Amino acid sequence: MEPTTIYPITNFMGEFITIAKTSDLEPGYGKVANVMGKAIALFNVEGTFYALENTCLHRGGPIGKGTLEGDVVTCPWHQWQYNVKTGVMEFDSEKRLKTYAVKVEGEDVKIRMED
Ligand code: FES
Repeated sequence: MEPTTIYPITNFMGEFITIAKTSDLEPGYGKVANVMGKAIALFNVEGTFYALENTCLHRGGPIGKGTLEGDVVTCPWHQWQYNVKTGVMEFDSEKRLKTYAVKVEGEDVKIRMED
């Protein structure tokens, strides 16, 4: 299993907190970050970062370890697909993963944590 970087938590719910460095993730790739006890899937789509919940709606597969093509990630377990910008499932638009607001400050990729 690949190591996961854990960044110190210094802020609170509703605040933007750092979950990665821009250099951690090349365009076209995703990763899993653990933040405040939650696994967050983070993706780099052509230089823009997107974050969503990491748990697939099918059987809980790790979305952040899926394959990214354009803005669509394919779950590594049974190939369900989601748009990483919206969290919406590709073949059932009624279903979606929770997304998180993302901003980049300098080298820091930050997301706003909410309940
Ligand atoms: S767990 Fe993701 S497709 Fe089955």
